[in-house]
Amino acid sequence: MIRLQSHPSGRHFLQIPGPTNVPDRVLRSIDNVTIDHRGPEFGVLGREVLAGMKKLFKTESHVIIYPASGTGAWEAALVNALSPGDRVLMAETGHFATLWKKMAERLGLQVQFMPGDWRHGADADQVAQVLAADSAHAIKAVCVVHNETATGVVSNVAAIRKAMDGCRHPALLMVDTISSLGSIDYRHDEWGVDVTVSGSQKGVMLPPGLSFNAVSAKALAAAQSAGLRRSYWDWQDMIAANETGYFPYTPATNLLYGLHTALEMLFEEGLDNVFARHRRHGEATRRAVRAWGLEVLCKKPEEYSGSLTAVLMPEGHSADALRAVILKHFNMSLGQGLTNLKDKVFRIGHLGDFNDLTLCGTLSGVEMGLGLAGVPHKKGGVQVALAYLSEQAGASA
Ligand SMILES: Cc1ncc(COP(=O)(O)O)c(C=O)c1O
Repeated sequence: MIRLQSHPSGRHFLQIPGPTNVPDRVLRSIDNVTIDHRGPEFGVLGREVLAGMKKLFKTESHVIIYPASGTGAWEAALVNALSPGDRVLMAETGHFATLWKKMAERLGLQVQFMPGDWRHGADADQVAQVLAADSAHAIKAVCVVHNETATGVVSNVAAIRKAMDGCRHPALLMVDTISSLGSIDYRHDEWGVDVTVSGSQKGVMLPPGLSFNAVSAKALAAAQSAGLRRSYWDWQDMIAANETGYFPYTPATNLLYGLHTALEMLFEEGLDNVFARHRRHGEATRRAVRAWGLEVLCKKPEEYSGSLTAVLMPEGHSADALRAVILKHFNMSLGQGLTNLKDKVFRIGHLGDFNDLTLCGTLSGVEMGLGLAGVPHKKGGVQVALAYLSEQAGASA
């Protein structure tokens, strides 16, 4: 028998910032027989996952579940609420904000892109300035990525809402929470967000394949006259079928089983505890990074991410070579630097189904990898993280 590749023993450490490790309990629930999506049992499942998603988004309004990746939910947000030629204001926080901007342009929207250095979040003061100058209210939407997965920087959505309200500007607020929902505190209703976009494969602990829109009454009203062409993504078709827990086309039934279980797990732990766990792991990671003598990409402490940490490589050293060494020797995948940051950073995902010991393993793999790849660093980052984690565990005992 020809053996093409030997299988490494132990579980692969999937420490990219999504897709994340899917808990066994979720995998077991996905592994159930597929049921009739128009039968009586399905309606109960549909209603329960929709109710659970509202709780996760912290909204009383509608949530739409698409059998699509996050990119589909981006498109759904734009095509439902906007018309050809509409102006939208977007903030260049990094790779994903740039992709969303490119999509908006392809769809025929006029994007005003506030430039950024990929080390900071969206600037609420700059949003206020642009909107204050737009007395004709030509800007129809402000679009922001809550947690920029390329950089590990969190934008302050409440501050952006405040900036918009301060200018009494009627633009819709659209927020991408693909790498923050279920890991960083997020409040659709309280923060006055009109469309929240999200995905299944990160803090929601599912495999890729589902994505979401949470939609305010104002966005729904805008959709009535919005002129961009849409069919598959139409909110109205979804909302009408969802009333009874069903979908206008075949839903991803088995992923919905998984979603049901993942929501149960998040609510059993308690959302505040989930967010605190992510904050703790972000802090422990940054302490390790600094102890190694390396630099965290995110510049402002108030914008640090609990989902991931992007680490800058010392000048002249390749992040991709480091990641390759770590994959080869320790069977761990870390996130790569994207576009402008290619080969300059590596990203440690610490979100989803993740605990103190997962972090210890992850950081150990990084520290050993730094040594093997010949990256100049100081030893002991793992020890510093361990000290912080044990201090935190002691404080909560
Ligand atoms: C913040 C953010 N937005 C959008 C996307 C695109 O989502 P998808 O790759 O699921 O289409 C991603 C994917 O990682 C993301 O992290």
